[in-house]
Amino acid sequence: MSSWIRTHNCGMIGLPEVGTTVSLNGWVNRYRNLGGLLFIDLRDRTGIVQVVFNPEQNRELFKTAERIRNEYVLMVRGRVEKRPEATMNQEMATGAVEVHAEELLIINSAKTPPIYVNEDAAEEETLRLRYRYLDLRRPEMQNKIALRHRIVKLIRDFLDEKGFWEIETPMLTRSTPEGARDFLVPSRVNPGKFYALPQSPQIFKQLLMVSGVEKYFQIARCFRDEDLRADRQPEFTQIDLELSFVEREMILALMEEMMVILLKEIKGIELHRPFPRLEYTAAMNRYGSDKPDTRFGMELEDISALVADSQFAVFRKILEQGGKVVAFTAPGCGHYTRRELDALSPLAAKYGAKGVAYFALTEGKVKSPISKFFTTEQLAKITAKLEAKDGDLVLIIADQNPNQALTALGALRLEFGRRLNLIRDDQYNLLWVVNFPLFEYDPVAQRLVSVHHPFTAPLREDEDLIATDPLKVRSNSYDLVLNGTELGGGSIRIHQPNLQEKIFQTLGLTPEVIKDKFGFLLEAFEYGTPPHGGIALGLDRLVMLLTGAASLRDVIAFPKT
Ligand code: AMO
Ligand code: AMP
Repeated sequence: MSSWIRTHNCGMIGLPEVGTTVSLNGWVNRYRNLGGLLFIDLRDRTGIVQVVFNPEQNRELFKTAERIRNEYVLMVRGRVEKRPEATMNQEMATGAVEVHAEELLIINSAKTPPIYVNEDAAEEETLRLRYRYLDLRRPEMQNKIALRHRIVKLIRDFLDEKGFWEIETPMLTRSTPEGARDFLVPSRVNPGKFYALPQSPQIFKQLLMVSGVEKYFQIARCFRDEDLRADRQPEFTQIDLELSFVEREMILALMEEMMVILLKEIKGIELHRPFPRLEYTAAMNRYGSDKPDTRFGMELEDISALVADSQFAVFRKILEQGGKVVAFTAPGCGHYTRRELDALSPLAAKYGAKGVAYFALTEGKVKSPISKFFTTEQLAKITAKLEAKDGDLVLIIADQNPNQALTALGALRLEFGRRLNLIRDDQYNLLWVVNFPLFEYDPVAQRLVSVHHPFTAPLREDEDLIATDPLKVRSNSYDLVLNGTELGGGSIRIHQPNLQEKIFQTLGLTPEVIKDKFGFLLEAFEYGTPPHGGIALGLDRLVMLLTGAASLRDVIAFPKT
């Protein structure tokens, strides 16, 4: 027996190879024994090619081939032949040819696989994950893994060309300020003491700016002890970067340039720059979300002023308490049955709404349990503002907490976007949400907390509000949003010690806590800190969206469940 090492890859064999002898390695994707002839589809990571065993040419070889089962590992040597016209397979990249086997080596046998490697994933995910090595043999999964590699390579090349240095930061470290729960690792040499795994390299990348690195990036592993979701893993990867001597626009432009390259190279899509920028408050008011999906309309409207003098006590009371009444029109849903309409309440409750009201517009009439509380004129004004026509359904949510009303209605908007098939999955809407609030009130801790992290700079024009009306202060922050998913977030950082001090005071942090948590960074800041800012994109989310995967788990080789 000659060498079992291959001369060609399975997927690379085509008409140019006809007449040559090739050696192939791979797995048996499928076999068909027709008695007179035996066919196997041999698969490696480049593709599949058909191999034919003919007993009339070599009975011994045919007998060995009859032992072959799915997922056996083989070496096959044979001549590439053009298939007869009638048997050419248009579906296969190698479908015009087949390999007539002259030599076969069964390198390894395989047990009957508990999942079908040669079909698209249909099994329970737990079974797929238990046999992940088989699941990953599927071309569908291999494409995603390969694409992830290509995306990372494009990003590395892009940032390298822009002068960034890739620098690793520690895994065994101290608590970082992202605000999720830490994973802890006990220290053997310091009994009773623990390292924290980094939630992000935030502190280190800022230290690197003090160190004069100026342009840092890292494909960084992050750890957050959070609940799993389709777009959340406790262990995930960020494309993390930080720059010195920058202003916000420079960072946004850089990221836009990178996203344009990625979408072009990976999806063949030309994006237009600059991406739209939406103030946080506008995103909330129009879409009820700080990561709006703008692939469809159905924007929200504030109808508080139009219902304030109605007879409907629920709305009036909520408005008197400083709340909001918001609504949107679901076109063509006016025909909803009583049952469908009743089902809206529990649905809205799932998103935190205390109730949902509706006006169904059919045959020139307004159908609604609450329409009796409104005059014809009031109803006309509301439907006019919402541009609701006959046949439409107006959905309304009121809440004492304006953001709660908006987010619940925003979730309903998404739900109706899906129901009405308004969301095209071949469209890529990238946008920036900017100027998030700097602080929010945490009712559990009963104090203000940072929306991003405490090093985020306030907008210069809002600095005076820190002392007087901190919840009104906007930050110099930005989130990159793709089709309703938060792809990344970052900010310009504070580099002035007195401003940083003021922020800590507003957060109610005592000097001891500050020293304990951030002392290392603050001390460094006393030795000449350049103005700096940065961003981190979720790599797993990016790959998920670019490959059309339904879950992060499909783009991580070994995910958590
Ligand atoms: P942030 O916490 O917004 O910012 O994280 C940045 C991005 O990381 C992704 N991400 C996640 N992906 C998967 N699973 C998770 N559990 C998870 N958590 C976050 C998201 C998110 O937008 N240090 C700052 C960045 C900065 O200020 O420069 C930070 O970590 O896509
Ligand atoms: P209730 O008086 O609580 O039975 O409410 C009567 C109707 O008012 C409900 O069926 C809802 O349609 C509507 N409703 C009550 N609370 C709200 C709310 N917070 N937002 C919108 N609609 C509400």
